[in-house]
Amino acid sequence: MRLLVTGGAGFIGSAVVRQAISEGHHVLNVDKLTYAANPANVAGVADSKRYQFAQLDICDQPAMTALIGDFKPDTVMHLAAETHVDRSIDGPSAFIQTNIVGTYSLLEATRHYVQAGTAPKDFRFHHISTDEVYGSLGATGEFTEDSPYQPNSPYSAAKASSDMLARAWGETYGAPVVVTNCSNNYGPYQFPEKLIPVVIINALEGKDIPVYGKGDNVRDWLYVGDHADALLRAAQTGVPGETYNIGGRAERTNIDLVKMICAILDDELSGPSAKPHEQLISFVKDRPGHDHRYAINCDKIERDLGWTPSVTIEEGMRQTVQWYLENKAWWEDIRARGFDTAARQGLKK
Ligand code: NAD
Ligand code: DAU
Repeated sequence: MRLLVTGGAGFIGSAVVRQAISEGHHVLNVDKLTYAANPANVAGVADSKRYQFAQLDICDQPAMTALIGDFKPDTVMHLAAETHVDRSIDGPSAFIQTNIVGTYSLLEATRHYVQAGTAPKDFRFHHISTDEVYGSLGATGEFTEDSPYQPNSPYSAAKASSDMLARAWGETYGAPVVVTNCSNNYGPYQFPEKLIPVVIINALEGKDIPVYGKGDNVRDWLYVGDHADALLRAAQTGVPGETYNIGGRAERTNIDLVKMICAILDDELSGPSAKPHEQLISFVKDRPGHDHRYAINCDKIERDLGWTPSVTIEEGMRQTVQWYLENKAWWEDIRARGFDTAARQGLKK
């Protein structure tokens, strides 16, 4: 397969790129290299003859059209996005631009590719999205592919808009669009502003671990390698016009998850001077419009594409903690280069 992956220098995109190369595919990684990107995430495959990289903004439609025409992908896997909810609250503009205008630009570039007659017969546009488009659940129920869209943050509204564009390009222009909506990912190479790396790194540095509100919000966690596996299956065998939900069947309240990570750290770093990391937990001001609960019903992708998560949350979280312990240079470099922290992080009650 010739895969054009957007956002392949980010957290999930780089997992897709690494796995695609290991499976023998050709990959063109298109990434603007925003603050969230890191070339180190794909350093392990950068020397492969089957790997190419282009630093480009997906909003640049003429450049994207030319690139697609040259590379002639079998599939475009579109992951590039602004992704941090707190940043979208502090400054929505980049989210509207990349997530909506950028997706439009890419859909148009691929429409040109298909209309020019150069695309292969079974070409697919795989639009990668989030469960946050469905809004927030109460204590019971799960999101299915038929759940109504009720986005609550600028991030999720922009992603929901991009899903709608992808759908419309399929219905109106016959674009062969496959959409996937996934729950919260965790694992190696996650940028240190999201919950899991914030908890691990703050705990290692003896700093407060900020938990928003009461910590009773629920997320459904999936190991990033399992998401990459699901995405590569959907990209190859997903049916155009269909949506597939992807989730980990691993719901946890934030506070339970934070305590789980603290316990793993206690175990990994035990010694006479070690203190329980839980002592660092600090409840801080809540996120505005904070979605209470996400839970994904992933029956369809399990049934139709034969995918299931391979790693339990206990195994995956321990592997993740160990990765951050063994790869301090990766996150210390990011912090040394500096990045604006979303204003919400670190706010005390
Ligand atoms: P990330 O923030 O780690 O990486 C995003 C990447 O996109 C970065 O490499 C960045 O440089 C690139 N990018 C941003 N704007 C761009 C532009 N205009 N042109 C080209 N490249 C650009 O994101 P992630 O967490 O890996 O998420 C990837 C995708 O998966 C996103 O579409 C996100 O909505 C979706 N998703 C994420 C999660 C999650 O838990 N992280 C869950 C479900 C779905
Ligand atoms: O559900 C999928 C989504 O998961 C993706 O679409 C997003 O791109 C991704 O960022 C993630 O969104 P969340 O807002 O759920 O992830 P985040 O890591 O920011 O927060 C997870 C939960 O933890 C959420 O309830 C807010 C809370 N939180 C977050 C941070 C950063 C804290 O309590 N403290 C924190 O410091």
